[in-house]
Amino acid sequence: EKDIYILAIESSCDETAAAVVKNGREVLSNVIYSQIALHTEYGGVVPEIASRKHIEKINQVIEKALADADKALTQMDAIAVTYGPGLVGALLVGVSAAKAISFASGIPLIGVHHIEGHISANYIENKELDPPFLCLVVSGGHSHLVVVKDYGEYEIIGRTRDDAAGEAFDKVARAIGLGYPGGPKIDKVSREGNPDAIHFPRAKVGDAEYDFSFSGLKSAVLNYLNSCQMKGEKMAVADVAASFQKAVIDVLVDHSMDALAKYGYKKFAIAGGVASNSSLRKTFEEACAKRGIAFYHPSPVYCTDNAAMIGAAAYYEYQNGVRHGFDLNAVPNLKL
Ligand code: KG4
Ligand code: ZN
Repeated sequence: EKDIYILAIESSCDETAAAVVKNGREVLSNVIYSQIALHTEYGGVVPEIASRKHIEKINQVIEKALADADKALTQMDAIAVTYGPGLVGALLVGVSAAKAISFASGIPLIGVHHIEGHISANYIENKELDPPFLCLVVSGGHSHLVVVKDYGEYEIIGRTRDDAAGEAFDKVARAIGLGYPGGPKIDKVSREGNPDAIHFPRAKVGDAEYDFSFSGLKSAVLNYLNSCQMKGEKMAVADVAASFQKAVIDVLVDHSMDALAKYGYKKFAIAGGVASNSSLRKTFEEACAKRGIAFYHPSPVYCTDNAAMIGAAAYYEYQNGVRHGFDLNAVPNLKL
C-alpha cells in the first residue's frame, strides 16, 4: 500500500506549529515555535499578540517542518490544519496558510478539530492503540471525558461546567505567585509539598455524573490565601500547590474510573497539556494497574499543543474520505 504523508499545521492558541506525519503514526518532523515567553509578562495569552506572532512565524515553521522531514511539498498527500476550537485570530492564520498552500499546489485540504488532535496524539507512540477506548482530555481550554468509538467517531460523556483543568492550574498559580504558565510550575513545586496539608473540596456536579467543576476549588484556594493573610500567617506555597493539585487529580481519576467501570472499556488514554502533569500520570498509572486497564499517554511534547497530533488525526480523516473546500473557516467554538 502507498504511504500517506501529511503536512499538518496548528495555530489555535500560542504555539505556531507544523509537522510532517507518515501514515498517521510516524512523526518525520515536529516544529513548535512557542510564544509562551512573549505572553508571560501579561500573565496569560493575549489574543492579538498571538495572531500577529503566528503571521510572522508560520511560513518559517512550515518550511522547517518540510526540511526536517527531508520532504518536498509535492510529496504531501494532504495539508491538514486545526480549524477550531481556539482563538479566532490565531486559528485564521493557520487556516489561511493551509488554504493558500492547498490552492497553489492542488494538494487536498483537511480541517481538523483541535480536541481530535489531542486524542490522536496517543496514536503516535502507542502503535497498537486502536478504538474503542476512553480518553480524558485536559488542557487549558477543555476538560472532556470522551468515548472514542472509532476513528473520527466520538461521544463526550463528561465536560467541565466552568473552568477547564488547565485554566484552574493557571489561575491558582497566579494567585500563589508562581506566574504563567501555571501548570508546569505547580507540578514542580508540588514535589516539595504535602498534598494532604490542606483539604480542598472535590466538587460533585449534581445530575451529570461525569461532569467536572473547578471554579469552586479555585475559590477555596483563594479563600484559604485570604484567611492566611488575615491571620498574618505565611502560607506554605508548596503545600497549597500540592493540595490543590491533588484535589484536581482526585476528581479526574474518580470520574474516569467510574466511567471505565460503567462502559466496560479496558483501554484508557489521557491527552492535553495537563496530561503531562507528573503526579497525574503516576496516579492514573496506579489506578489503571489496580483495575487491569491498559493506560496510554503521550510524551509531554505531544501533550501540549503541537502539529504532529493534527497530522495523526488527519490521517484517519483522510482514510475516511474527508476533504475540505476553500470555504473552510476558523470556528472558535467548534463542536466535537
Ligand atoms: O493542550 P494545551 O497546550 O493547550 C490547550 O489546548 O489549551 O494545554 C495548556 C494547558 C495550560 O493550562 C498549562 O498550564 C497546562 O496545560 N499544563 C499543565 C502542565 N503542563 C501544561 N498542567 C499541569 N501540569 C503540567 N505539567
Ligand atoms: Zn490544545
